[in-house]
Amino acid sequence: MSRPADPECALEPTVEPAWVLAVDGFDPLRENVLESRLTVSNGFLGVRATRTVGRGERWVLPPRTYVAGLFDIQSPEQPIPVLVPAADWMKVRILLSGRPLVRHPAEVSSYRASLDMRRGALVTKGWVRGPLLAVRVRTLRLVSLSDRALGFQLVEFEIEEGQVEVTLEASLEGTSLGLRLERLEENLGVWRTKYSGKGLAIAGATSLLIDGQELAPGRPGAFLWSWTWKTHPGQVMRFERLVAVARSDTKESDPGEVARSKLAHAQQIGWRAVLAEHEAAWSTGWQVGDIEVAGDPAAQQALRFAIYHLISAANPNDERVSIGARGLTGSDYNGHVFWDTEIYLLPFYTLTWPEAARALLMYRFHTLAGARAKAAGMGWRGAMYAWESADTGAETTPDHVIGPDGRIIPVLCGKQEQHITADVAYAVWQYWQATRDESFLLEAGAEIMLETGRFWSSRAQPEADNHCHIRGVIGPDEYHENIDDNAFTNVMARWNIRRALDVAALLRGRWPEHWENLSSRLQLDDTELNQWRTVAETILTGFDPKTGLYEEFAGYFALEPINLAAYAGRTVPMDLVLGRERTQRCQVVKQADVVALLALLPEEFPGDSAALNFDYYEPRCGHGSSLSPGLHGVAAARLGYTKKALYYLQRGAAVDLSDTHVTIAGGLHVAALGGIWQTAVLGFAGLSLREGGISLDPKLPADWRSLRFGVQWRNRRLTIRIEQDKQLFEAILEAGDPMTILASGKRHELRPGQRTVSRINS
Ligand code: BGC
Repeated sequence: MSRPADPECALEPTVEPAWVLAVDGFDPLRENVLESRLTVSNGFLGVRATRTVGRGERWVLPPRTYVAGLFDIQSPEQPIPVLVPAADWMKVRILLSGRPLVRHPAEVSSYRASLDMRRGALVTKGWVRGPLLAVRVRTLRLVSLSDRALGFQLVEFEIEEGQVEVTLEASLEGTSLGLRLERLEENLGVWRTKYSGKGLAIAGATSLLIDGQELAPGRPGAFLWSWTWKTHPGQVMRFERLVAVARSDTKESDPGEVARSKLAHAQQIGWRAVLAEHEAAWSTGWQVGDIEVAGDPAAQQALRFAIYHLISAANPNDERVSIGARGLTGSDYNGHVFWDTEIYLLPFYTLTWPEAARALLMYRFHTLAGARAKAAGMGWRGAMYAWESADTGAETTPDHVIGPDGRIIPVLCGKQEQHITADVAYAVWQYWQATRDESFLLEAGAEIMLETGRFWSSRAQPEADNHCHIRGVIGPDEYHENIDDNAFTNVMARWNIRRALDVAALLRGRWPEHWENLSSRLQLDDTELNQWRTVAETILTGFDPKTGLYEEFAGYFALEPINLAAYAGRTVPMDLVLGRERTQRCQVVKQADVVALLALLPEEFPGDSAALNFDYYEPRCGHGSSLSPGLHGVAAARLGYTKKALYYLQRGAAVDLSDTHVTIAGGLHVAALGGIWQTAVLGFAGLSLREGGISLDPKLPADWRSLRFGVQWRNRRLTIRIEQDKQLFEAILEAGDPMTILASGKRHELRPGQRTVSRINS
């Protein structure tokens, strides 16, 4: 897959269209949307797809490079940490006979931006034909997946017509946004965030070649390069820029040296090697991460796009950061981390890229102190994770937002949306099931499980009816606040407590010394563990064995029913249609809630109650969140509602791929992207984790001739393929020891390198 990195190849996208998301034309009004969609990112750096050459200044958002973890508050009066954008390191200014070249739509005779998902790069090609010059412009940009500090940019001009004096200036732009300049040297800038004192350094090197000959730059200022030359038809100009970026988390540490030495290394190996290593890293990522669907090109594109951004969002080398709700693609939600990461993204990482999953879970371990403080501050024990988390783990949910009608709306999620704590534990447990990573369990996972189990055991209080209750919460359905006994929260809490007890038993039995140390450090004794058991046994879940239904929360069934079908075709969420007060008084659900529980814990739905609950709650869901389609898709696919599940996959894909969703200018909805992957793998392939292996229960949509995907499981790498016509399943154990796989209830022993083929659903 890796190709020789000569500029000709580098500047052209991969030939197979299924690997490329191409956008033609130049429409200033769509720019902000495309900038999010075509972002290049590597989990440390995220660079929005702002045009490099001759962009207009007025209608676009300023260019943005985001650096994971670079948080700062805006002011002591506004103490919510936000992700501070770094300088635009790709700025190129071109002057023709002294006048700036601004790409005017009328002068761009053709333009194509291609997100080359296979190579993790954005390439563009266009012809600009103005009064002075006609030129073919090609560009490439990437942030390296093999060395995440590095960014690279290539700009090529091929002169078609025009003999004119051209000046090209390369500099940095937009560094005043929340950053204080510490020093600007010839090739290095160092900044500090105003309040949190984090450091940011960018080191850069450039060169410009005219017909293959390097032209020496003028240096009119620090971090500023300038070249002037005369064009002639047929001339080829190539501009190359390498940068290295470093972040430091304390006031004392200087990131300058790290950036400088990273850049020196990149210069030494040269951009061709940087590009080749980057492409090789992408190739490795795709090896397990990719999904192939035959028979449905739209689903194929949606899956590639989702996986491209999922691979782009994570960084296995940094345990101090997690993935914000918009990844590093935009500023909405300020870079904050929600349950989106653990519930919507982690399944992908855990099953295809466990190193990334581990780092994300270690972030939760490193933020345990914040979670303990939050629990204690609200009068409970153990650890209660922040609904919105930034760098320290402290709660960062704003207290209020301004509503669409200009009114101030209080935000209660920071206090009440407590299910996040069980969601983190869920992801830890899934990771443990899928990897059996003992050092993670002993170093971090067990402590998270115990402290979250402890939280729920103090949070659920016994009452006169002999049941434990959790009152005053918000479930995933945020249309209903301050509710009691949310089924999702209570069942997840019970599950969390039970798994914490399992962890305690496991440690005690297998690693008694470790258990001694940990339990004494946490002051955890048998009396307390017994109290946990009592809570788990008596907590109210809202499940009625007579009807087979969970009540979403106490009193939900008595709320006003709304026929959502009557609102089909609406373009705004239901809470705007009905108004906030009425929404709270009616049964409209914002997003998968009981359905989310069904997707996460199907074993909590006995007999035919899975279908009963889905059939009951699905028509009541307004899908007011981009998270909703993903888990509806998973649940529907497992139930065999294949058409419906495909509809949800398409709906999830439309969030970021269609031009109808207004909010994508603020960044992509990474949870929706994770939901697309889940619908395919956990839904249509029916993959689930079992004690001794993996289980599959495939039910493909009618048009899908086959589905192929990769999985990692306990140090093994597998490729699985399901064929619709012949109703076959095929598994190859690419690496690792023999293992067992269950397909449609039948056991198969997989041996390394061997292909196992069997009939499904027979
Ligand atoms: C959803 C939450 C989600 C958040 C960030 C909200 O609109 O209701 O479930 O965590 O967005 O994506």
